[in-house]
Amino acid sequence: MHTVRVKEEEIMRENHVKIITNATSYFMHQYTKHYLHVKKPADRLPPPPEDKEYLLYIHVPFCTMFCPYCSFNKFNYTKEAATHYFKHLREEILHVKALGYRFNYLVIGGGTPLIDEEELIQTIELVKKLFDIKHVSCESDPNHIQPKTVLRLDGLVDRLSVGVQTFDDTLLKKLGRYEKFGSGEEVYRKIASMLGILPITSVDLIFNFPNQTRENLLYDIETLTKLSPEQSSFYPLMTSSMVKSSVTKTLGKFSLTNEYEFFNIIKESLQESYPSRHGWSFSKEKEAIFDEYVIDNEEYVGVGSGSFSFYQQHPLP
Ligand SMILES: C[S@@+](CC[C@H](N)C(=O)[O-])C[C@H]1O[C@@H](n2cnc3c(N)ncnc32)[C@H](O)[C@@H]1O
Ligand code: SF4
Repeated sequence: MHTVRVKEEEIMRENHVKIITNATSYFMHQYTKHYLHVKKPADRLPPPPEDKEYLLYIHVPFCTMFCPYCSFNKFNYTKEAATHYFKHLREEILHVKALGYRFNYLVIGGGTPLIDEEELIQTIELVKKLFDIKHVSCESDPNHIQPKTVLRLDGLVDRLSVGVQTFDDTLLKKLGRYEKFGSGEEVYRKIASMLGILPITSVDLIFNFPNQTRENLLYDIETLTKLSPEQSSFYPLMTSSMVKSSVTKTLGKFSLTNEYEFFNIIKESLQESYPSRHGWSFSKEKEAIFDEYVIDNEEYVGVGSGSFSFYQQHPLP
């Protein structure tokens, strides 16, 4: 009798979870459709001054997992949503061109820009056709950097930055990235197999995770140096109000106590092989440095979901 009741309760609980999951998925789908709808930039951008060139930032907001520390604009990936999104993204780029904007740099961030390779390539080709682009920088997760994909980007992308965050398996498991992208060693091998195809490969790492020890950090630095990409960005963990509770739940309480000391360890350890250039960027070659946050032209126009633009207001005609 008791077993039957336990079984019934279990079934009820499962049904309950199913109803909640289906309802959440339905609402997410509706919201995604709503948010991904393009608004003409003509409605929000002033016409540009004649002699100016800007950086164009394109946002690709799709992921196959949501990391607990990440507050970037993102949605669950489906092929259907991505196809719809990229089509409208290209329309938005055409609107910006029609307004008279000119661009010399292109930065593509996410989310996961390479999640739909065909669509991304089509979009980069369009931008290159419309504008005289000197340099293209793009982000990726470790699952979309197979050599055959990266070879297709040769001549289209100058710098690919790959999100690693840490090579430490315990930490990767807590972040949920171990299951999705593989162990630290697997991620290392994935990157090693595509190094050298593009002019610059950069490795993104994060430091000052809660409970990260000095030894964990030294292991990340050592593994990065052994891997030897052209560049690396070592970001301090940033915890916006959006991710504070998920960081606490998965990793522990965030604290700034070690941040300064850890950054000095990174700078000192990389001093010989990767002299610090600016901010959190480290590069083997001085001339090869290109970081999306520090660029020649500090004004930029953002297109796509959740993107923003930064430019000096000039007098409207
Ligand atoms: C927007 S993500 C895209 C990378 C890719 N989706 C991935 O996860 O591998 C770009 C980089 O921003 C950094 N990042 C994201 N959230 C961060 C945070 N809360 N604090 C510091 N760096 C962060 C990570 O290093 C990440 O690789
Ligand atoms: S870190 Fe990358 S994969 Fe993780 S949620 Fe952010 S954009 Fe998506």
